Amino acid sequence: MIIAVDGPTASGKGTIAKALAAHFGLSHLDTGLLYRAVGRQVFLNGGNPDDPADALAACTFADTLLNDPELRTEESGGYASRVSIHPAVRAALLARQQAFANQPGGAVLDGRDIATVIAPHADAKLFVTASVSARAMRRWVEMKGFGLDVERAAIEADLEARDERDRNRAEAPLRQADGAVLLDTSNLAKEMAVAMAIALVEKQVARG
Ligand code: C5P
Repeated sequence: MIIAVDGPTASGKGTIAKALAAHFGLSHLDTGLLYRAVGRQVFLNGGNPDDPADALAACTFADTLLNDPELRTEESGGYASRVSIHPAVRAALLARQQAFANQPGGAVLDGRDIATVIAPHADAKLFVTASVSARAMRRWVEMKGFGLDVERAAIEADLEARDERDRNRAEAPLRQADGAVLLDTSNLAKEMAVAMAIALVEKQVARG
């Protein structure tokens, strides 16, 4: 069974995807991490994330980079969003994601274009979203937990800029795929969001 989970940043899609993988006994891939690694590698190379050649050169990052805690920062998210607009970067990461999706038994993948590009044949497709203020609040609480003191307004502005770029890019823009079910987590506690996601997947799979 392949489960595609798409949605904007801090919508809860990563938490939901991880929980779905545990519930259904499937492997999980956070595809945003791949774009974050490319962004980070551009930075380490001293390159420019807006330059397609610099961004493409960074796609050969070492797998150990995927464990770098720096990838979790807002800065890396911004870099990831900038490198991800280049078609050559998306093409370079395509085979790896498709191979993961099509592994025996299936998988759960979360990102922006899982149901539209990577695995349009997925058995279940969720589009997880939440209001900008709810998402900024979650990110702020998360950062506080890391001991980082960041203005909530700055986080909100950053999320909006990233959403804008992800939704309006020419290649694989963030959008709800045909057949994807919307799950708005704005007013849902984590446990409730996960329970609803499981129920939605079961319903889609039963329908076939
Ligand atoms: O999900 P996350 O916030 O880690 O993703 C970082 C950035 O990577 C996103 O803002 C988006 O621009 C890009 N991305 C993408 N396609 C994916 C996953 C992430 O373009 N499948």
